[in-house]
Amino acid sequence: MQEIKISVTVFEYNDISDLPEQERHLMELAVKATDFAYAPYSTFRVGTALLLENGEIITGNNQENMAYPSGLCAERVALFYAASQYPDVAVNTVAITARANDFEIDHPVAPCGACRQVMAETENRSKNKMKLIMMGEKGKVQVVEGVDNILPLMFHEENLKKKK
Ligand code: THU
Repeated sequence: MQEIKISVTVFEYNDISDLPEQERHLMELAVKATDFAYAPYSTFRVGTALLLENGEIITGNNQENMAYPSGLCAERVALFYAASQYPDVAVNTVAITARANDFEIDHPVAPCGACRQVMAETENRSKNKMKLIMMGEKGKVQVVEGVDNILPLMFHEENLKKKK
């Protein structure tokens, strides 16, 4: 038996104003996207903005449903829309933020496990690692380069390869 240590790298900015111009712009669009979140049940409004390789920007937000599991996270709304419109275009950057009705989110909001898995598939499809920028309503902004930094030991397509 041996112990294997896996490390991830996270870059942290003090707040949104410290981000490079293009990333700040993307995050501002993610903030705007929280306005159209449909979150009457959780009142937790998530917004996301994707920058594609072709320069296109796609935004999304969480869409809830009275039958709770039928709703979808902001990240997957945007990533699936991007894949449906531009199947061959890589996603370069994903900005994620959230705000709630009755409390202030002062720490970066990281994507849920299911969204991380979809991000992993997005990277694998295009063979292009993406940058993730995560923020709350205010405060520090965290950046990772590549989904493996938030999903070590991920399920991999290799697992589905049939033995001959
Ligand atoms: N949510 C997202 O949109 N993205 C995530 O990565 C985590 C959670 C949404 C789902 C639900 O509408 C609300 O936030 C509360 O969980």
